[in-house]
Amino acid sequence: MLSSEEVKKNAGVFAADLVKNGMNFGLGTGSTVYWLIRELGVRVSQGLEIRAVPTSAQTVSLALEAGIPLTDLDQVAQLPIAIDGADEIDPQGQLIKGGGGALLQEKIVAAAAEKMIVIADGSKYVSQLGRFPLPVEVIRFGYKQVMRRLLDAGICRSVKLREKNGTPFITDHQHYILDCQFDHIDDAPAINTFIRNITGVVETGLFVRMASSAIIGHSDGRVETIN
Ligand code: 5RP
Repeated sequence: MLSSEEVKKNAGVFAADLVKNGMNFGLGTGSTVYWLIRELGVRVSQGLEIRAVPTSAQTVSLALEAGIPLTDLDQVAQLPIAIDGADEIDPQGQLIKGGGGALLQEKIVAAAAEKMIVIADGSKYVSQLGRFPLPVEVIRFGYKQVMRRLLDAGICRSVKLREKNGTPFITDHQHYILDCQFDHIDDAPAINTFIRNITGVVETGLFVRMASSAIIGHSDGRVETIN
């Protein structure tokens, strides 16, 4: 049985093969993407020519440390793929993302890419979304109003302001994150639309009809691609 880190590494290294010479690509955030970055760093040092559009400040520093050249969405005409992690993936390819707090930029990059490829360990593949609290990025001003709207609507069981070291967690774009606990999410597109329509909400961590495929690592060493 492989450790969870080894499983993530297998998925990340497997996905590195999708990044071809000369390609611009979206580079996600998180501990699985970390292994992709490490592997691509090695390949860049061996002559692979690529440019990454990073999805967070954390990924910017990891990519620069690994020697991966960066670019941004305003510089690229085409983004054939974006590779990113996820907190939950269902059989329809719907995702919950934002466990690391980078959901806004991750969604913008995924939307710009022709294909979004998810990398994750098998524990993230679920029959129904909703056990992982749904991150919702909100404007700081008046955020308690948004919390109230979410609770009053009765769509989720509880809503918590995300904190780090006892103070509110601030995203790369200077917003707050509300973590919404559901029992399960039956209709992801409807929930996504409902939450996005609340004034003060910037974006949700529900990625609907965005992922093209998922590369899933398993503890027995297998790496599976689900289309
Ligand atoms: C960050 C994310 C990550 O992709 C997600 O949390 C998965 O991360 P990890 O690979 O560390 O489990 O959405 O905002």
